[in-house]
Amino acid sequence: MSDCIASIKARRACRKFLPTPVEKEKLTQILEAAQIAPSAMNQQPWHFYVVSNQDIIAQISDPAQEIIGKERPAFIERAQKNGVKSGVFYDAPTVIFISCKKEGTRFRQLDIGIATENIMLAATSLGLGSIAIGCFVDVVKAQTEAALKLSADEEVLIAIPIGYADNSIPLPPQNRRADNITFIE
Ligand SMILES: Cc1cc2nc3c(=O)[nH]c(=O)nc-3n(C[C@H](O)[C@H](O)[C@H](O)COP(=O)(O)O)c2cc1C
Repeated sequence: MSDCIASIKARRACRKFLPTPVEKEKLTQILEAAQIAPSAMNQQPWHFYVVSNQDIIAQISDPAQEIIGKERPAFIERAQKNGVKSGVFYDAPTVIFISCKKEGTRFRQLDIGIATENIMLAATSLGLGSIAIGCFVDVVKAQTEAALKLSADEEVLIAIPIGYADNSIPLPPQNRRADNITFIE
């Protein structure tokens, strides 16, 4: 199996991280993988905020946890049952927030999705855990703008917590539909 396909198959959503910081060289390699992602008309509509400051992460995750805890308590309860304080970013030592301009190309969400997967696959290949997180995006917009000092024309679309996985919690089965491929020959 190619290294690329092995990383694609090995990547799983990580919902418990060790507090061990991620080495700067590994973060640099992950960000290089993000920047090299393809994008429509090579617009590269993204900005990557790589946040390892736990106070800044908490300015987003604490209010998000409070709101989501009321709307979807099972989300937060699952984390807490696993010994994880934040059911939003799962106590990761680093969180990469990806923003883009509010007015952008038609494909900007797709572009950011591709960069997101590059980040997660690079993390996997470097022995790190990661997960895409969207639950906070709509609920704490103002807090995210303030914590990251976003400009008025910029919005965050996704976050990717990164760190060494704490493998003490069982992974859910990697369920995938099997009815969504049509070969037309
Ligand atoms: C765009 C996107 C947003 C997601 N948002 C969340 C989230 O807010 N919280 C969470 O725990 N998982 C989130 N996930 C992770 C998915 O639940 C997970 O990838 C999916 O269940 C498949 O599991 P796997 O990644 O281990 O294969 C998100 C994934 C994607 C792609």
